[in-house]
This record gives sequence, C-alpha cells and structure tokens, in this order.
Amino acid sequence: MRELYYILDLDIVPLLDMRLPINARHVDIPISNINPELIRLLSSVDIEVSHQSFFYSYPGFKRDSCHVDGGITDIDGDWPSRAKLNFVLGDTNTITTWYDVPADIKKCTLLNTTSIGHRYQYYKLKDCIEIASATLAGWHLFEAGVPHAVLNPTLKPRWAISLVMKDIFSNEWLSYIECKTRILKLDHLSH
Ligand SMILES: [Fe+2]
Repeated sequence: MRELYYILDLDIVPLLDMRLPINARHVDIPISNINPELIRLLSSVDIEVSHQSFFYSYPGFKRDSCHVDGGITDIDGDWPSRAKLNFVLGDTNTITTWYDVPADIKKCTLLNTTSIGHRYQYYKLKDCIEIASATLAGWHLFEAGVPHAVLNPTLKPRWAISLVMKDIFSNEWLSYIECKTRILKLDHLSH
C-alpha cells in the first residue's frame, strides 16, 4: 500500500514561541515564529516552508467529513501527492485516518475554504472507505493529498503544527516521495 506517513527523528523545536492557541480550530503561524534552525535545515535540501498552521482538536473532536489539502483534482478526479511536515503535541492517542473515495463520489467535487482562506476538497465520511489509520506524535511527514481526517476521542487537547513543503526554486508543492527523499538526507544530517 502507498505510504501515507513517516515518523521522523528530528531533534528540533518547531517554533520559537510554542504557546498554543486553544480558542481557534485553525490559525496561521507567522513565518517569523518558525525556528530559524528548521528553516535553515530544510533549505539545505531545497525545501521552502510556504505556509504554516496550527490545528487544534479539542477533547472529543470529531468530523463527518474528510478532506484533501489544496483541493484541486486532475480530470479524473484524482489528487496530486502533497507533502506536509507535521509536529503533533498534546494528547498522542488521537487518530488520523486516510480514506479511499469511490469514483462516482470523486466526481462530485465539494470545495470549502478554511477559516484562513485556504481552499480544500472534502467528502462525506459515509461515502468513503477507510484505508489506513495511525496514532501520530512528534515530527512526521504527512501525505495530505489523500483524503484524511483527525479524530480526538480523548479527554485532552491535541495540536498539530503543519508546514506546507514546497520546492525552493519552483515554489511547487512537493510530492510525498520527493519530500521524503530530501528530508531523509536532512534526517541523516541530524544524527
Ligand atoms: Fe489536512
């Protein structure tokens, strides 16, 4: 099966100011708050952090839909692979699930816009088939181009710091595989 996440052993703090917002579901993180050491490491493998967000999942958070980051499909309704570098903290027993979407449902595009103005494509969970799930914590590479959703069935809050990974020259969103290849070079550098 296609790989959807990869746990990274990166010993680096993501943000200069790690105070976490607890009243907003989704907020932008100013680029000035990203740890400059992280930006330097990523740029050494030609990766630029183009957007960065906090996602807060309050205790008991659940959804009835999954989504694809970016929201654009090709003519067959398929999505390009899209890499994110995520750092999850708070309760680690939260569940990330990825889904397959039947072809007839894929054609019925549902687009929405996040609270900070990013477009994304979404599907109702009742129409989707679960293909993988994981309990993620700390640093990991994340496939955001496959429909996914996060549930927090715990009694504790969960935060994800989520960084969009782009090529430093073309400004194109990197595929999961391309980003992983570059990040693994960086991972080895950190040992
Ligand atoms: Fe997402």
